[in-house]
Amino acid sequence: MGSLLGRSHGWDRLTVNRGAATVHPLATRSAMRILQSGGNAIDAAISASLVLGVVDGHNSGIGGGCLVLIRRSNGQILAIDGRETAGQAAHEGMFLRDGKADPKLSQDGPLACAVPSQIAAIKHMHTQAGRLPWRELFEDAHKAAFDGAPASKSIGRTIAAEADQLRKYPASKAIYFHADGTPIREGEPWVQKDLASTLQNIADHGAEWFYEGPFAKACADYLESIGGVLTRQDFLAYQPKERAAIRTKYRNYEVIGFPPPSSGGMHIAQMLMMLEPYPVGAWMRSRPDAYYHLLCEAMKRAFADRAHWLGDSDFVDVPQGLLAPEYSVDRMADFLDSRSTDGIEHGWPNGVLEREILSSEPSPGEDRKHTTHLTAADEEGNWVAMTCTVNTSWGCKVTVPGTGVMLNNQMDDFSIAPGTPNAFGLVGSESNAVAPGKRPLSSMSPTIVLDSTGQPVLTAGAAGGPRIINATLQVLLRVLDGGCSVAEALAAPRVHHQWRPDQLLFEDQTGIDSPWAITPETRQRLSAMGHPLKASGALAISQAIHRQGNRLAAAHDPRAQGASES
Ligand code: GLY
Repeated sequence: MGSLLGRSHGWDRLTVNRGAATVHPLATRSAMRILQSGGNAIDAAISASLVLGVVDGHNSGIGGGCLVLIRRSNGQILAIDGRETAGQAAHEGMFLRDGKADPKLSQDGPLACAVPSQIAAIKHMHTQAGRLPWRELFEDAHKAAFDGAPASKSIGRTIAAEADQLRKYPASKAIYFHADGTPIREGEPWVQKDLASTLQNIADHGAEWFYEGPFAKACADYLESIGGVLTRQDFLAYQPKERAAIRTKYRNYEVIGFPPPSSGGMHIAQMLMMLEPYPVGAWMRSRPDAYYHLLCEAMKRAFADRAHWLGDSDFVDVPQGLLAPEYSVDRMADFLDSRSTDGIEHGWPNGVLEREILSSEPSPGEDRKHTTHLTAADEEGNWVAMTCTVNTSWGCKVTVPGTGVMLNNQMDDFSIAPGTPNAFGLVGSESNAVAPGKRPLSSMSPTIVLDSTGQPVLTAGAAGGPRIINATLQVLLRVLDGGCSVAEALAAPRVHHQWRPDQLLFEDQTGIDSPWAITPETRQRLSAMGHPLKASGALAISQAIHRQGNRLAAAHDPRAQGASES
């Protein structure tokens, strides 16, 4: 802290500690070790993300991508888009067979993979705002891969669940199964020598080794041999992008969210604007039926807009009017405080023309777990919210031989064809159709909240496909409106509605003790209002950090076996 005294950003008036939260104790430990050895929050997040790619590889890894929101100690906001990108050979019909969409092709196997982007994103983070040498940030991940780490419960569960697909690819078979063909199980020591060697090469030779050198060649050659379309040129062309963050006033706060190709920041902002006129905190405490009804109605309207208007803003016009205050008033004009609104469709923000609607059938989607959110903050006032993903568990199930790198299946986040929901039951429009060089629409929602003096006070984000958006929103509301501690906010039960299908999911099977449980009486009232309720297990996994006065409190979601330290 000494070197900061006298700077004008105001942070030095606070004696603030540091903190980190992730879904795995080894990743959180790595972030804290980096913070304790002179690194800043950016270094800590990079190191933790690399460790997660080794010990929690079904959710994220260097074969996938990430979206990163950084608030630097000087107040600068960086929104780093490390989203995977479709190759130049990608096209709208690539997942059609005999004129019909085949979602298996966008979810498993070589066509499902877009250019991996996490390494490019962390290189950009490091160049812009990191402090420790690049090489040091790989040490913990390398050690976990080389020495081995006990396989977690979710590693064991997801290998077993995806065993048939994983066995199809020899390098995946060699890594995720014993020689006798049985899958790696929870608690078993799990060594990943090829991945350790890949990490060492990137540490020694930089991101170029991955995008311009041996990895790009090995990956493109292998994919070609099994029917994929990514090329070395696609790897060479990959660039992370700095985006303008979405900044919204909510009560006395400024909420900073991630813009397209994520839908998260846009719809969290939109829903906050819809909710702001209502006494959210009071209803949360004393009229939970009114609170969940209001939330659900905001969610339906936002997700109807998501399905129609959202896509990669480098390819389609995502109307800025979605964030106009008068649009949220307009959107809620038919809100009834005691009745679910039927027949909600997308709205008409000012100044946009119609575009083709891809009609769709409702689908519940699958309850597949995936993606990971991590966060770190340091004593200087650097805060990082980072969501990383290979999309659904173990991505496309293809490991590049000799590298230990499991590739993503992010192509499934595009709308692959009219009437074909993706793995999360999400439907989309032409806005999110496949195109060469395009980035698929994401729900990842790394979020940072500033107080009225411009200092960071809260950060949150989540894993869980479209549930990310609604879970992040609910964590923000519990802290900002409900006055909850961040641990209480994460433990509180959540609801989720994504417009199609018309069902209001509520958590009642998480086994989490919370004073905010959604009671049978509340459920009865919601049903009487016309909400089609469905009980659910965990709706997303969220990590968060909250500053209370001059203390940071980091918390991990009790629905997963994570760790937080501050
Ligand atoms: N792959 C999940 C998401 O980006 O929303």
